[in-house]
Amino acid sequence: MNFDLWSKKVPQKDNDCCVVGVFDGGKLGKWADEVDRQQDGRISQLVKRGDFSGKLGETLLLPPVAADSRTRVLLVGQGAQKNLNRRAWRRALVSGFNALARTRIQSATIALDVAVGGELPDALLVRSAGVLCGQAIYRINDLKSGTHPPAPALRHLTIGPVASISAAGRRAAKQAAAITVGMRTQRDLANLPGNHCTPTYLAATARRIARDYKSVKLRILDRNAIKREKMGCFLAVTQGSDEPPQFIVLEHRPARPSKRGPVVLVGKGVTFDTGGISLKDPPAMDEMKFDMSGAATVLGAVHFAAEYNLPLHVIALVPACENMPGGRAIKPGDIVTSASGQTVEILNTDAEGRLILCDALHYARRYKPSALIDVATLTGACVVALGAHHSGLMSNDDALASELLDSGLRADDRLWRLPLTEEYAEQLRSNFADMANVGGRDGGAITAATFLSKFTTGMIWAHIDIAGTAYLSGANKGSTGRPLPTLADFLLKRAGQ
Ligand code: BES
Ligand code: MN
Ligand code: ZN
Repeated sequence: MNFDLWSKKVPQKDNDCCVVGVFDGGKLGKWADEVDRQQDGRISQLVKRGDFSGKLGETLLLPPVAADSRTRVLLVGQGAQKNLNRRAWRRALVSGFNALARTRIQSATIALDVAVGGELPDALLVRSAGVLCGQAIYRINDLKSGTHPPAPALRHLTIGPVASISAAGRRAAKQAAAITVGMRTQRDLANLPGNHCTPTYLAATARRIARDYKSVKLRILDRNAIKREKMGCFLAVTQGSDEPPQFIVLEHRPARPSKRGPVVLVGKGVTFDTGGISLKDPPAMDEMKFDMSGAATVLGAVHFAAEYNLPLHVIALVPACENMPGGRAIKPGDIVTSASGQTVEILNTDAEGRLILCDALHYARRYKPSALIDVATLTGACVVALGAHHSGLMSNDDALASELLDSGLRADDRLWRLPLTEEYAEQLRSNFADMANVGGRDGGAITAATFLSKFTTGMIWAHIDIAGTAYLSGANKGSTGRPLPTLADFLLKRAGQ
């Protein structure tokens, strides 16, 4: 995708389609009115006849006025004018993009009315619209053998109205394009099933990114190298599986990075989570192919950083493996030694995410990160607490937490902070090891983060639990691309962009 901007006057003829908004009750939006005047009132006539009501999300595609013109008009319902907040604006945009995606239209101009109240500064408006467009035209990399409906043709979007065509606006257009590139990598990985997207496949994808960008370096630790690092917790999870584990280090190191230490991102890369000997119930177990969504997010984040040429050193660490039952699998009660030297009693083999993450978080220490952020589909308890609307945020640093919360608001990809105080550590007490890997049902998202916090002392660290936000179930089953918009915003801010 590529994006550019318009200001002041709708460029009606530059693209294949001009997308304008109509409010509930048929009141034309500002830009619909402008187009209507130039097209002899055909939109107002149509609305008067009752052919378009302006209900939020409604769309209607009108052919070009003259036989020699290519420019169609797409009407988009914006709902009641007084309710046009940022959320309604986003919904109207998405319905517009979905309608465009069903056509052969290759280029479009967006001229919806801007939300009242929650208005966005130009740069954020451009970035939001661009990212939403990229998300809407994404098609799942399914493995269906029949003929596919043609992929959306949309390649170019002119976004507006911006107050003025500024350097910041143009930068935002580039950011949106780069986020779209990273998110495609992310969603493609997350959507692939466990027999395709293995730890080896994750490593191959990282290799492809490293090959495509000069700024990106890759290091992969195989089982022997992982043993040399003494990652006993990670190895314990992998031992029940025939798929070889991979520890992926993918690094975007720009020519002139900022002075502070790198931002290190850690992503949970369980390519399938059966639960192990503490086997999961069958219903919806297929969704555990998404248990590498954290890994997909951090690899997507590096892809974004490289594509944008971000002046910030970003490192993604991905412990990748399967969690399987088997003759060699770990058993409840087993005690293993983490890379940090702390011992862990594995009371539940289904709490495997924290076991692979703790060794990766310890590995991050060598980089002296200015911020360490892990992203993981870590707990069902987080889904119970927050549902599908907020990702869970837990952190040992208030400044980092509020930076991430702000990024979530700006990117419309929100996080909600949960407490992380010392009392919770009592639930992890073990009679036989330094700690247990589970702390009972109560506060399950927090006790999981508390476990991780034992490995991040002295580092500025945040944990993002995306179990409820990374993917959708049911008819729209698939990766959502979250929380890449938030991470991208965070990285951009850190890089002074
Ligand atoms: N991958 C799951 C968490 C999960 C649950 C992600 C639902 C997405 C949707 C994780 O490995 C897990 O199994 N966690 C256990 C922890 C428990 C045993 C303490 C859980 O949440 O049940
Ligand atoms: Mn599990
Ligand atoms: Zn898991």
